[in-house]
Amino acid sequence: MPHHQLVLVLDFGGQYNQLIARRVREHHVYCEVKPYQTSIEEIRAMHPIGIIFTGGPNSVYDPQSPHCDPAIFELGIPVLGICYGCQLMAQALGGEVIAAQEDSAREYGKTHTFYQTDCKLFHNLPAEGVSWMSHGDYMANVPDGFSLVGHTAMCPNAAIADEKRGFYGVQFHPEVNHTENGSLMLKNFLYEVCHAKGDWTMEDYKNSAIRSIREKVGDGKVLLALSGGVDSSVAAALLAEAIGNQLTCVFVDHGLMRKNEGDEVEAAFAKWDIHFIRVDAEKRFLCKLAGISDPETKRKIIGEEFIRVFEEEGKKIGTVDYLVQGTIYPDVIESGAGDAAVIKSHHNVGGLPDYVDFKEIIEPLRLLFKDEVRELGRELDLPEYLVMRQPFPGPGLAIRVIGDITREKLDILREADFIFRDEIAKAKLEHTMNQYFAVLTNMRSVGVMGDGRTYDYTLALRSVTTTDFMTADWARIPYDVLDRISVRIVNEVGHINRIVYDITSKPPATIEWE
Ligand code: XMP
Repeated sequence: MPHHQLVLVLDFGGQYNQLIARRVREHHVYCEVKPYQTSIEEIRAMHPIGIIFTGGPNSVYDPQSPHCDPAIFELGIPVLGICYGCQLMAQALGGEVIAAQEDSAREYGKTHTFYQTDCKLFHNLPAEGVSWMSHGDYMANVPDGFSLVGHTAMCPNAAIADEKRGFYGVQFHPEVNHTENGSLMLKNFLYEVCHAKGDWTMEDYKNSAIRSIREKVGDGKVLLALSGGVDSSVAAALLAEAIGNQLTCVFVDHGLMRKNEGDEVEAAFAKWDIHFIRVDAEKRFLCKLAGISDPETKRKIIGEEFIRVFEEEGKKIGTVDYLVQGTIYPDVIESGAGDAAVIKSHHNVGGLPDYVDFKEIIEPLRLLFKDEVRELGRELDLPEYLVMRQPFPGPGLAIRVIGDITREKLDILREADFIFRDEIAKAKLEHTMNQYFAVLTNMRSVGVMGDGRTYDYTLALRSVTTTDFMTADWARIPYDVLDRISVRIVNEVGHINRIVYDITSKPPATIEWE
């Protein structure tokens, strides 16, 4: 893999560990998150140009709390400690950290903060602004060599620095958006303190990834299960660009996709000279799903059927040398404290196809965050509709038709969902929400159309804002937009006579209805 300058994020279990890494990469510096237990030898071997300690839920004076090898401070590498990371550094270098007394230096949330702009961390930035605090501990004494470079009304040492040794600590979280200029503070750390060159760009990544894929694959055969989601599509495009017709993409069209989706995916790959197999498996899937209304049973059936179809296609192809998987960096990161990892209960269908004969797995997106995967997709000229595709569950519309599934219900849902998405796009609201879709409930109610009574389905609209999909809030879609959506759907789609908007957050609800 390509060699870039590296910044190491040592994870002490903070909830923002990945955010820090993403912010660093946004400034074109490659960054990896490693658990705090990473040995000093390993760290040395990685040759980082800088190290960032994350926050964490513990207190540094608790003997059970996560600590790093103090030899880190002897490496001559700049360190930025954030929140817990700051306190840890202070303690390790001879300072004193204690629990803040009620009403004194305990700070949570947006806090007005003052900065010394002659400190490298705050160069060329405003001397004051809001920062995001979340700490119950307090540095009673800072270590020798450190000076106070930031304060709040409550806390004289909101930021500390030993500029000679390149050690910086902040009690607040520069990585979260609530901290004004936080991202620029990180940039200052990278460029002014660590002297980064900014050699992490997607164009660069694309070119070197293509080179190393070619080297690895030689004249071997490669198989990829394409789901139409962002990750597998970008992985496919990268492989297509690298090895052309040595690649076979199997796209299982289970008939549970949104309107036009299957054709769009196929069209996006038409420009490459690859073996593109689109398996029309709608009948098989609908047949297996007939009469099934339990959500988990639906998921199980779809997962299994997907494997069967893929297996059959794999057999037709014969032996392949490599199998591609769209694993991305958040799936790879091993959390330091073990409790900050985002645990997803859902897996995309077609996860691990260990039933096809192959020598090795290739994971070309293993180092990338989701936004970087999208950027790489753009570098590869994948169409925007594919690159910006919102998350779509593996079982597709099967879990958005509540209760038993029929082709007719799926068609009704597809049309309604299409109108919903179309109106959101027209209102330019796509970027204000993270996932939005229609759900065909299995409830019917009485309505009146023209002079006649109707007895038709109730459609639910769901739209959420979220960062991690583990918790979510319902999106505040303006009433007039909701009105347009509702009018269009009842007029243009048959068998829907009532529309409701889901105004529950997660928890207690989930994002999907099933
Ligand atoms: P929930 O409904 O649990 O969804 O709040 C959280 C996120 O996961 C997606 N989701 C799935 N993804 N297979 C998937 O690949 C599934 O069975 C599945 N169920 C939910 C959901 O769309 C949301 O983004």
